[in-house]
Amino acid sequence: MEYSGNGSSDVDSWKEVILVYSSALKEIGTKLEILNDEFQHVHQYNPIEHIKSRIKTSESIVKKLKKHGYESTIDNMIRYINDIAGIRIICSFTTDIYRIAEMLERQSDINILSVKDYIKRPKPSGYKSYHMIVSIPIYLSEKRVDAKVEIQIRTVAMDFWASLEHKINYKFDVNVPEHIKTELYACAEMVSELDAKMLSLNEEVKQLSLEIPPD
Ligand code: GTP
Ligand code: MG
Repeated sequence: MEYSGNGSSDVDSWKEVILVYSSALKEIGTKLEILNDEFQHVHQYNPIEHIKSRIKTSESIVKKLKKHGYESTIDNMIRYINDIAGIRIICSFTTDIYRIAEMLERQSDINILSVKDYIKRPKPSGYKSYHMIVSIPIYLSEKRVDAKVEIQIRTVAMDFWASLEHKINYKFDVNVPEHIKTELYACAEMVSELDAKMLSLNEEVKQLSLEIPPD
């Protein structure tokens, strides 16, 4: 989104920017609902367990700009902060993650700006998730603007791990004791094992229900 000063006050510009990002979350949210409904219709199965979305708080935006050495201006926040609008998609199985990512990638109005696959390459902490930064057009009464959205896709188990790890980091203000880091890493390995086991069980059950006709 290019922000062009139109003589309005900073408060008005701020409100307009937030309106655009909230609209972007609505657009992506609707796209996901449609995909989930269609999937239910065709395959009698929902790839999405649930969705959480949020707009970054102004405090958190200012903190991030400062951390990267940028002045707190609306132009800088639009240019440099990719996660003002964030959406998290929670799935049952790892295969659903790639299915959803592909379905979004195929949509012509979604422009993929970057992809980070922390499932194929987990972070040293053990963090796993599939991240995409996309941009999507928002049509206002007199102009079209493109808004960036950070999409995180992960399984229920990966989400459980990430929220606990986030709480722990917050509590210790990043100075997490070594043994807790080690335990967390071990838990991340268990998450991968659990995800793989649940997937293979589900595949086996699907196969069995194909072989056994319902009465
Ligand atoms: P920021 O961390 O937002 O500055 O972005 P980045 O450019 O480092 O991108 P990255 O894709 O690595 O992370 C984006 C977001 O993913 C973060 O803001 C977190 O919400 C989440 N995330 C990344 N790494 C971790 C992690 O190790 N643990 C947890 N719990 N969340 C993480
Ligand atoms: Mg972030």
